[in-house]
Amino acid sequence: MYENRIRKPTLEQLIISAEQAALLFKDKMVVASSGFTKAGDSKAVLMALAERAHKDSLKITLMTGASLGYGTDGALAEAKALSLRLPFQVDPVLRKAINNGEVFFIDQHLGETANLLRANNFPKIDIAILEACLIEEDGSIIPTTSIGNSASFAALAEKIIIELNLSVPLSIQGVHDIFSTGEYPNRKEIPITKAYSKIGTSAISINPDKIAGIVITSKTDSPADIEAPDDATTAIANHLIGFFNREVARGNLTKSLLPLQAGIGKVANAVLTGFTHSDFEDLTMYSEVLQDSTFDLLDSGKLLFASGSSITVSQAYYDKIFSNFEAYKNKIVLRPQDISNAAEVIRRLGVIAMNTALECDIYGNVNSTHIGGTHMMNGIGGSGDFARNSYLSIFVTSSVAKDHKISCIVPMVSHVDHCEHDVDIIVTEQGLADLRGLAPRQRAKVIIEKCVHPQYKQQLQDYFERACLKGGQTPHLLEEAFSWHVQLKETGSMKMPIK
Ligand code: COA
Repeated sequence: MYENRIRKPTLEQLIISAEQAALLFKDKMVVASSGFTKAGDSKAVLMALAERAHKDSLKITLMTGASLGYGTDGALAEAKALSLRLPFQVDPVLRKAINNGEVFFIDQHLGETANLLRANNFPKIDIAILEACLIEEDGSIIPTTSIGNSASFAALAEKIIIELNLSVPLSIQGVHDIFSTGEYPNRKEIPITKAYSKIGTSAISINPDKIAGIVITSKTDSPADIEAPDDATTAIANHLIGFFNREVARGNLTKSLLPLQAGIGKVANAVLTGFTHSDFEDLTMYSEVLQDSTFDLLDSGKLLFASGSSITVSQAYYDKIFSNFEAYKNKIVLRPQDISNAAEVIRRLGVIAMNTALECDIYGNVNSTHIGGTHMMNGIGGSGDFARNSYLSIFVTSSVAKDHKISCIVPMVSHVDHCEHDVDIIVTEQGLADLRGLAPRQRAKVIIEKCVHPQYKQQLQDYFERACLKGGQTPHLLEEAFSWHVQLKETGSMKMPIK
């Protein structure tokens, strides 16, 4: 059955089971795996390695594109098989191990990992596991539902294990666009001038001598959990659509806007869904993750083209897309994540970046990663790559969390991922704060007026007024700046009496 997918016959002798592949790993190895937000990840070998690690004690460094599916990160963490993980994860078991200090985690801009590796700023990769749907005559591979860092891993790893996934239709061939900038000091420009520009090759080239094994699998990607829009996320989407309409009316944007990027999570999904019922037309996306809502927008005709690094969709959408992939093939492209997230391209195209905050402060600094300033949630992902370089940097969040016990707008964020200089717009279900062209004290006024939940408005206004009395370009009461977080820890709520 696999025969038409291994086009270099001599490689067939390298077919091994996942369990045999798992025996190739040794303690302290640096392992790289394909996989980007659950798509195109190792489904057989890493799981077999987790199984093995229950018996044979070993710990690896594991780097990927982004998160893995099927609880693979959790299984590896449970088996105590991870010493260091990068650059992103979303697994509750691994999250716990990271926050307990059992596993080190490098939370990294997703566009940066390949650059660090190629500049030798990280130990060499011993083994890369790469999911593919086809091995070509020259040993090069056609990836599956993501590219992530796979092209860099293939170039840099000592040995490669290919997971040949038979469940991915060969019609996917042609959707990938592999391109490398080369190395410093002679790096080339990335000649992408439109979201739909194709500049590279459809296969990842591999030196066949590096292939240590080929594992055959038929497991499909683990489905994305998509939460339907609720009142809060719909309100956020409506505020944003209203804002874009005003920008069109002012002549700042046309009805096609500029290429859109949308982060992960239920808010981002609701925002994209909101575009389906809007007056905008001929939209394009230059993003990382192509999610269910991307395909809704393509189906509705609102979206002409989407560029990303992965297709991460629910089971129903997976079935729909891959039963008729030809219908989408000319409307999407998958790129390596150092290209999808490249500062150069994001700035050239004028991307409108929409990402999610856990909390924002009154001056517009954003925390997307650390609960209470200390505990890792998922990681910064690509949000920083886009926020810093976009035409418009938008952050969305609910105004409150955990039954209103937490205000997501606070005096000072407990951890900074995106600083005030990289944040143009903050939106909650309460309203939209347009911070462009405003100085810190003006920003605070607008954020408090537009974004804060009524239960916390007076409390925040009181903090700001008392801070202003003390003066400063960015007034704060340092002894009180984190008191909301401290009080939450001590009493379970940020609500406090006005001073
Ligand atoms: N303090 C503590 N907890 C908070 C909080 C705050 N200020 N704000 C939200 N939360 C909690 C929610 O209650 C929820 O908890 P639960 O999982 O126990 O229900 C959880 O954080 C997630 O929040 P939710 O409102 O469901 O948002 P989301 O699914 O949209 O995820 C992020 C929000 C920020 C965690 C997510 O978008 C993320 O990881 N972003 C960083 C990476 C990124 O932006 N990538 C974009 C490019 S791909």
